[in-house]
Amino acid sequence: MRVLFATSEAYPLIKTGGLADVSGALPKAISQLPDFKGDIKLLLPAYSAVLAKLKAFKTIANIIVLGQDCSLITGKMPDSDIEVIAIKNAALYERTGGPYSDENGIDWLDNPLRFGVLSRVASLLCSANSPLKTWLPDLIHCNDWQTGLAPAYMKLLDNSKTKSILSIHNIAFQGCFNANWLTQLELPAAHFDMNGFEYHGQISFLKAGLFYADKLSTVSPTYAKEIQTAEFGFGLEGLLQTRSADLMGILNGIDADEWNPATDKHLPKNYSNSRITGKHAVKHALQQQLGLDTNANAPLLGVVSRLTHQKGLDLLPSLMPKLVDLGCQFAILGSGEKKLEASFNALAERYPAQVSMNTGYHEHLSHNIMAGSDFFIMPSRFEPCGLNQLYGLAYGTPPIVSNTGGLADSVCDTTTLTLKNNSATGFVVKNVTSASLLVTIQQALGFWQDKKIWRKIQKNGMLQDISWVSSAKPYLSFYQQTLK
Ligand code: ADP
Ligand code: GLC
Repeated sequence: MRVLFATSEAYPLIKTGGLADVSGALPKAISQLPDFKGDIKLLLPAYSAVLAKLKAFKTIANIIVLGQDCSLITGKMPDSDIEVIAIKNAALYERTGGPYSDENGIDWLDNPLRFGVLSRVASLLCSANSPLKTWLPDLIHCNDWQTGLAPAYMKLLDNSKTKSILSIHNIAFQGCFNANWLTQLELPAAHFDMNGFEYHGQISFLKAGLFYADKLSTVSPTYAKEIQTAEFGFGLEGLLQTRSADLMGILNGIDADEWNPATDKHLPKNYSNSRITGKHAVKHALQQQLGLDTNANAPLLGVVSRLTHQKGLDLLPSLMPKLVDLGCQFAILGSGEKKLEASFNALAERYPAQVSMNTGYHEHLSHNIMAGSDFFIMPSRFEPCGLNQLYGLAYGTPPIVSNTGGLADSVCDTTTLTLKNNSATGFVVKNVTSASLLVTIQQALGFWQDKKIWRKIQKNGMLQDISWVSSAKPYLSFYQQTLK
């Protein structure tokens, strides 16, 4: 089975969020399954960061795609044997800033072209005109809107025999652009239609993928149901209802090479469920590093997140003075909405010994907050899967989450019953409101006081099987089903 995994980011080459974690880990996990006979190659743009990290790369083809001169280069992932095909075009991809936006967070205006090229190359690699003469994929696995046009190009332009899957990591991002882009994107105008890639008068990359891909998947069973409703479907629920039989929800896993407290190279001390004392040392070092009181008895609540409406963290600032009075500490790492960044910064200034706020993207600090905190807060309004709550479970940092998407599928609320049957792993906020979040945090603090109960909750989470190995198996079955 030859699989082309097309994505716009993959850890450790380039990362803005969970999609990178998945793209870095899932191909590796599938290729290591004993039942998998074949190979998976990753396709992504050659951003500057990718060129700096890709191992031993060489140019294998020069092509013109959507009027752009591109080279295809191949190399290996820095941490595995997975082969990467990267699309090199300096003008499109080698810029300062992120993969989607500039240094000020403003989306690149030519994103339709940048990800049109990614999608067009993906489709070409699955066609008789592929520049890789000897490697024709049986299956292409596309991810999110950035690769959503690939299934459309495959059906409309390339008459491709390759089967296609589109995975939805977040339906809120749809890649909708002005119809003026039609010509440049070489999309046949006849299909700029409700039964095609048109969406409310615009070209929608995601809708194209949802319409033309053979099968669809998303990153948790609950989110698969939610996106078929008006509350969570962001307008695409109708289309998803018609494709319900082709849609599968598979929970993400965690990459144990990167996220394992027993081996995590970012931590000053490693620990595991049976040697939990190391976690106390990490907490102490984290408090010291962040300028918080080095008080082992102060409950430390961690946040690592994009600061957007999705994540519900705007519910937190108004509660913090009260929680600080109760002795709580906060270690926050997040960037996004400037107003929310400012609220957390103001609280950090007001309570320097109890609140720490860091903006920007810091891989090392994110691991230390995950390991050094006692609780991890994630009250998302919607959450396709969420990886941080999974990391919280693995790190003995019980998550406080809302009851949605992958959070609902991975965290079990602590009650008398769930404590008794050893399924309690965290705390579930009933409603996404400040009042409800406060109640749940207070309940969690109550359980934390009882060290025996707390160890039990930690242990349940730390022993839960959330590795990619178990999630890779259903993906492989889904691949096999798609090829039938
Ligand atoms: P999403 O992809 O919606 O942002 P996930 O929970 O699936 O949410 O994944 C987020 C990933 O990004 C996690 O690996 C998390 O640790 C990481 N992350 C988020 N914000 C930061 C940050 N400011 N610095 C470092 N890592 C971050
Ligand atoms: C998206 C979602 C997040 C998910 C990630 C990886 O960024 O917001 O919930 O974990 O994709 O699938």
